[in-house]
Amino acid sequence: MRGKTCVITGATSGIGLETAARLGALGARLVLVGRNRDKGNAAISRLRAYEPGVAVEVHYADLSRPEEIRRLGDALLDAAPRIDVLVNNAGALFANRSTTSDGLELTFALNHMGYFRLTALLRDRLIASAPARVVNVASEAHRGSHLDFEDLQCSRHYNGWRAYQRSKLANILFTRELARRLEGTGVTANCLHPGFVATNFGDNNRGIWRLGITIGKLVAAIPVKRGAETPVHLASSADLEGISGKYFIKCRERRPDPSAENDGTAARLWTESERLMGL
Ligand SMILES: NC(=O)c1ccc[n+]([C@@H]2O[C@H](COP(=O)([O-])OP(=O)(O)OC[C@H]3O[C@@H](n4cnc5c(N)ncnc54)[C@H](OP(=O)(O)O)[C@@H]3O)[C@@H](O)[C@H]2O)c1
Repeated sequence: MRGKTCVITGATSGIGLETAARLGALGARLVLVGRNRDKGNAAISRLRAYEPGVAVEVHYADLSRPEEIRRLGDALLDAAPRIDVLVNNAGALFANRSTTSDGLELTFALNHMGYFRLTALLRDRLIASAPARVVNVASEAHRGSHLDFEDLQCSRHYNGWRAYQRSKLANILFTRELARRLEGTGVTANCLHPGFVATNFGDNNRGIWRLGITIGKLVAAIPVKRGAETPVHLASSADLEGISGKYFIKCRERRPDPSAENDGTAARLWTESERLMGL
C-alpha cells in the first residue's frame, strides 16, 4: 500500500480504526474521517504507537448532515491529490427514530446517504487515481429485509433493528449499482460483512437495547482485529484486482440475500438517493 492514500470514515473507533491501523502498517497514507476531535487525536496517537512514522491526518464531519459532508468533500479533495481507496464504514443503529435537518430518518441518512454522498463527491478523484477501490462496510443484518420505497424514511412503525437492516441492504444495493456505473473506469466497488465484532457499536443507545447489545457482544463477538480482516483484504489484496460489485464475508465472496441482488431495486435506490441529494 506504499504510495497509496486511503480515506476511511468512522476511523476513530472499532472496525474503522483497526482497518486504518492495518492499512497504515502496510505503508498507506491515512486520511481519516471522524466527528469528535478528542477521539481523532486519540486515534492519531494510537496509530503512531502502532506504526511509528505513519502518515495520518483526521478530518471531521457529522456524516448524517449534507452540509458537513459537502464541506468534508472539499477538504478531502484539497488534502488528497490522489485517493486510491475509500472505505465507507461510519454507521450506527438507533433504537429511537429521529430525523436530520433535511428531514431524513437518521439511520438512512448516516448509514446509506453518508456513503452515497461522500462517494459521489470523491468519485472523480477516485477515477483520476485509478486503479482505485471503494469498500463499503455492510452487514449480514441485511438478510430478510427489503426496501419500502413508499416509506424509505421509516415514518410508519419505526423499529431500530429493521431500520438498520434496511440501511445495510441499501449498502449492498448501492455497491452493486456503483460497480455497474464505474465499469471501465478502473475503480471497483465491493462490500462486506465484518463479523459480529466487539466494538462501540450500539453504545449510543440506552436501556434494553444497550443491555441486549452489550450482552450479545460479551457472549458472541469476535475481536476487532478479526473484524478488520475483510475490509483490509478488500482495500489491499492484489487478488481482488478488477473484482467489483461483490459481497464478502471472512475475505471470501458470498451471495447476499436475493433482495440485495435485484438490479431494479439497486437502480431505483440510486435514483431516489440522487433525488434526495438534490442532483
Ligand atoms: N460491530 C459489528 O458487529 C458490526 C457488524 C456488521 C457491520 N458493522 C458495521 O461496521 C461499521 C463500523 O461499526 P463499528 O462496529 O466499528 O462501530 P463503532 O465502534 O461504533 O464505530 C462507528 C464509527 O462511526 C462513527 N460515526 C457514528 N456516527 C457518525 C456520524 N453521525 N458522523 C460521523 N461518524 C459517525 C463513530 O464515530 P465516534 O467514534 O465519534 O463514535 C465511529 O468512528 C458500521 O457501518 C456497522 O454497521 C458492524
